[in-house]
Amino acid sequence: MNIAVFASGRGSNLMAIINAIKEGRLNAKVALVISNNSNAGALEIARANGIDALHISRRQFASDEEYIQKLLHELKTRNIELIVLAGYMKKIPPEIVREYQNRILNIHPALLPAFGGPGMYGINVHKAVIDYGVKVTGVTVHIVDEEYDHGPIVMQRVVEVRDDDTPESLAERVLKVEHEIYPQAIELFVEGRVVISGRKVFIKDE
Ligand code: GRF
Repeated sequence: MNIAVFASGRGSNLMAIINAIKEGRLNAKVALVISNNSNAGALEIARANGIDALHISRRQFASDEEYIQKLLHELKTRNIELIVLAGYMKKIPPEIVREYQNRILNIHPALLPAFGGPGMYGINVHKAVIDYGVKVTGVTVHIVDEEYDHGPIVMQRVVEVRDDDTPESLAERVLKVEHEIYPQAIELFVEGRVVISGRKVFIKDE
């Protein structure tokens, strides 16, 4: 299955996906990486691994329509079947969400629906978790719909919050879990085992 990864930043989840493919844990091909940020580490990682890497940002286009057509063109010409957001800081246009309905995934570094939504990204999430005093946080992989951090949940894992955690130490432990489960969640789609019924996602047995 050809997948596209959209990323705005350093790209450690992209790297984890590439490694899972190399190690045979994920039967997919990253055929395209798109970033809205020309300096994204993710673009460098893609190029170093021989993957088409494009800087596409709304600002390069005169209208939403042209921007959306460009994205769709790049996706369609590579037969992309699944879009994987990995630290992508822009909202996916609704036209693309509709075109790729139930075929766009996102990863969030907390247990949704807590600590999600606009403004909840990066280290802010872990600060909010610690400030609130919750005892557990974690990772959520979900399907992207037209609202931030909202679509049906595919997979979640719990990470304990320790008394001496700083946002940075927590972020590090959460990120390790992200790297473990994102390739696993993508593989479920590759294997055709994901059944979506309203807000609920069921995983068929192998
Ligand atoms: C991750 O924490 C992910 O959960 C969030 O953005 C971060 C991206 O990190 N959506 P990286 O660019 O994959 O290293």
